[in-house]
Amino acid sequence: MAPRGWFIVFEGVDGSGKSTQIELLSMKLRDQGVDHVLEREPSDGGIGLFIRDYAEAGDRYLQPESEALLFTADRFEHSKRIEQTLEQGTTVVCDRYYHSTLAYQGAAGVDVAWLRDLQKFALKPDLVLLLDVDPTKSLMRVSGRTLTVFENRDYLSRVRELYLGFAGAGEMRLVDTGRPVDEVESEVERLVEELIGVSF
Ligand code: TYD
Repeated sequence: MAPRGWFIVFEGVDGSGKSTQIELLSMKLRDQGVDHVLEREPSDGGIGLFIRDYAEAGDRYLQPESEALLFTADRFEHSKRIEQTLEQGTTVVCDRYYHSTLAYQGAAGVDVAWLRDLQKFALKPDLVLLLDVDPTKSLMRVSGRTLTVFENRDYLSRVRELYLGFAGAGEMRLVDTGRPVDEVESEVERLVEELIGVSF
C-alpha cells in the first residue's frame, strides 16, 4: 500500500497571493516527483458551485450562519474526496479549508466556538500556510475584476485579524507576503520541505 499523501492548505485574505504560490509549489513538487493534486474551496462539487455563484452575484443576502453551514456542507463532501486521494498516496494542496470559515464567517459575526464545533468532522491538514497581507494592498491586486460579496476592505481587515489569532497554533504557519514573490516562494518551500522531508 502506498504511504499516505500529505494534506497541505493555503489560507489568506482575497488577493494574498495564494494562487501564485500554489502554482509555484506545484511546479516544485512535480520536479521532485511528488504525486499531488490541486484542490480548492469552495469546491467544484454542487454545493461549492452554488456558493461561487452566490459570491459573485453581488448581494450578500444569506445570514452568515447559513453561509457557514453551506461552506461546511461543501467541505463535508469535499473531505471525503480528499481522504480517498490521500489514502491512495497522493498529496493534496488545497486553496482554503476550514480556517476560511472560522475567519470569514467569524468576521461576519458568527460565534467562532460554534464554527469550530461545526468543523469537528473535518480532516486535519498536515500544514496550513497563512499568507498574510494587509487587505488594502491585497485588494489592489484583485482590482481588475468585479469584487465578490466578501471583498471589502473593512471586512477583510476583520478576517485578517481572526486569521492572525489562529496563526502559530497547531499546524498553521504564518508567511508574510508583503515581500517579493521569490522570497515568499522560498519560505513556502522551506516549510513544505520541513514537512515532507524532500529538499527542493
Ligand atoms: P474564491 O473565488 O475562491 O476566492 P479566492 O480566490 O480569494 O479564494 O471565493 C471564495 C470566497 O469565499 C472568498 O472570498 C472567501 C470566501 N469563503 C468564506 O467566506 N468561507 C469559507 O469557508 C470559504 C472556503 C471561502
